[in-house]
Amino acid sequence: MAARHQRPCAASKSSAEAKRTDLKNNEKKCSWASYMTNSPLLIVMIGLPARGKTYMSKKLTRYLNWIGVPTKVFNLGEYRREAVQSYKSYDFFRHDNEEAMEIRKQCALVALQDVKTYLNTEGGQIAVFDATNTTRERRTLILNFAQENTYKVFFVESICDDPDVIAENIMEVKVSSPDYPERDRESVMDDFLKRIECYKVTYQPIDPDQHDKNLSFIRVINVGRRFLVNRVQDYIQSKIVYYLMNIHVHCHSIYLCRHGESQHNLERRIGGDSGLSERGKKFAVELKAFVKEHNLSDLKVWTSQLRCTIQTAEELGVPYEQWKILNEIDAGVCEEMTYKTIEEKYPEEFAMRDQDKYHYRYPGGESYQDLVQRLEPVIMELERQGNVLVICHQAVMRCLLAYFLDKGADDLPYMKCPLHTVLKLTPVAYGCKVEMFDLKVEAVNTHRDRPLEQLRSAVQPRPDQKAPSVQHGQHAFTFTHVPSSSFFRYTLF
Ligand code: SIN
Repeated sequence: MAARHQRPCAASKSSAEAKRTDLKNNEKKCSWASYMTNSPLLIVMIGLPARGKTYMSKKLTRYLNWIGVPTKVFNLGEYRREAVQSYKSYDFFRHDNEEAMEIRKQCALVALQDVKTYLNTEGGQIAVFDATNTTRERRTLILNFAQENTYKVFFVESICDDPDVIAENIMEVKVSSPDYPERDRESVMDDFLKRIECYKVTYQPIDPDQHDKNLSFIRVINVGRRFLVNRVQDYIQSKIVYYLMNIHVHCHSIYLCRHGESQHNLERRIGGDSGLSERGKKFAVELKAFVKEHNLSDLKVWTSQLRCTIQTAEELGVPYEQWKILNEIDAGVCEEMTYKTIEEKYPEEFAMRDQDKYHYRYPGGESYQDLVQRLEPVIMELERQGNVLVICHQAVMRCLLAYFLDKGADDLPYMKCPLHTVLKLTPVAYGCKVEMFDLKVEAVNTHRDRPLEQLRSAVQPRPDQKAPSVQHGQHAFTFTHVPSSSFFRYTLF
């Protein structure tokens, strides 16, 4: 596994030295979850168009990356659009359109080569092949490819016969597909339904009892109303199954905020278990007004087991749950110190944290990476719930936010989560809409910017590093100021 994941290294290093450095890098970067993936995994989606395959692929990929398993989606539609620049009509998808069938097969082969590059040389551990894969012939081709490369394969088949769900899916994501620029909704719907009919002619669903009984798969029926799971091979596959069984598509919002300003915040101390400052108490009152104003009557409220979050929730006058796993990052020997004291008392520790804030673990305490692991059950439960307000802490909020906004280890510890501000996260199509509400109660600024040196190396790749390039399925993250309203909005597309 490690040999597979060697990264390009500086030419001056001996290859053994480079290998060691490389393994060390991987060791540091990989999480507990990635150690459990003992050979690369190819997740293969199956299903007619508009069955939520891309939705599941993207969401699952975001989750796997967040828990520390490098994962990437390979969407066949994007390869096809690159090969055939202008889509005309469903005719392209007819099974008797030989020329188009050949193009589609070639696209699949190119995508699989990219999967191979990703898994063998770019440090990827899981690739998600997001395509219809509706015929046994195509699935056999993929299985042979995986066998040649010693990848495990896990199929995710989405079956849906609810016409309302299918129509909603087409309206939500297909109307804005690059296949249909400047087409009206009715004609998109008409063409797309015909495209689905083309696939139906040759669709061979997974046969769990006979032909496919030895394959590893989950069949998701009618957006999660029922599931069929077969031959789960290992830990990471069981996590994938568990995740897919927990996500839902019902409309809901998650509200994230920190506790009101605490006494320790005022004194610039980290950690500890202090109560709210006067301004912190004022924030709790404003938060109550916010909940009322937004008519969040069915809202669940979760706090940590630390006083400042509990005091904030108490003011709301509604039932709330205390979660120990929502407690702030444990700063170990540095608990209740100011950054200045840490720098004076533990200068080496202070410098090490600045070098790699995500992986740095306080002596006797936790790292951000540990925190992500601790918070996983919170994410799983947030996926299962309706509207939830989570009153938490700076590092905890960063970790939760990073999951929803698909932020990696480099950015996560520097995400801005100011006191007295509520973030409303609403899952939309393939991303998450974020609205930011400043409740206008002054508070200290506890954010520490990324040190300048770090910033420089983040924007200027070293000569041995590949410059970042736009990848298939990459998200754009935009921040929009909405002038007429009291809040900012930024949306992940
Ligand atoms: C597409 O070309 O849009 C999808 C190809 C496929 O997965 O069948």
